[in-house]
Amino acid sequence: MRRNLVVGNWKMHGDIHSNQVLLSALINGLNNYQNADYVVCVPNPYLHQTRTLLENTNIAWGGQNVNQFEEGAFTGAVSPHMLTDLGCTFVILGHSERRVLFHETNLSAAARFDASIKANLTPILCVGETLAEHDAGLTEVIVASQMDAVMATLSDDDFARAMHLNMVFAYEPVWAVGTGKTATPEQAQEVHHFIRQRIARRNAEAAALVRIVYGGSVKASNAAQLFNMPDVDGGLVGGASLDADEFIAICKAAN
Ligand code: PGA
Repeated sequence: MRRNLVVGNWKMHGDIHSNQVLLSALINGLNNYQNADYVVCVPNPYLHQTRTLLENTNIAWGGQNVNQFEEGAFTGAVSPHMLTDLGCTFVILGHSERRVLFHETNLSAAARFDASIKANLTPILCVGETLAEHDAGLTEVIVASQMDAVMATLSDDDFARAMHLNMVFAYEPVWAVGTGKTATPEQAQEVHHFIRQRIARRNAEAAALVRIVYGGSVKASNAAQLFNMPDVDGGLVGGASLDADEFIAICKAAN
């Protein structure tokens, strides 16, 4: 049985005061909901604050991206060890905003993935097609190419390590991210099933265990229907993760 997972992606939002208010509300609101896993991925400057507040709660925290190098002259970059040093257990990789706005590629996602698992961070690898690709019927081609770019670089040992860390895939159709448009539960299910089958080509046991979360305008009002689909194991939530009541309701739907 896969446990559902809900990940809040705060993006570039928050400050010390609003984080304190939001995290305190989440701690109280989720305390009694132990049947799913919850994570918040906060901006790097607030990881220390997040760790201080969330330590010994049932909410984990993570980074929104990471560099592939261990250390060195990489101005502005953050290493996997820096994230684990601040207690992170998860990291989002290959988010469409990183791909589109910061020109990250499948190749760099693969390098970050590799560096993350070597540092004991659970990668949440985002895949998903743009609206033009969707309309052209290319969803599976795009998702497969984004997955394969990472999976093909993993040795059998690396793959086993990624499974040991419970690697996560996030299907995030770009046309649904931050747009208020959500994939229907049936659309999400179809692609999640495709992702699982693709993992099964490498390792059937892993495919049955791996969690595939959906992202793209997940809200309290649509979460339960999405999470009810057999291959949807929770959500990656942007906008709605900044509103305590909304996020708690989404987490309860996963619980
Ligand atoms: P959204 O963002 O929920 O605001 O659509 C999702 C994401 O970017 O992970």
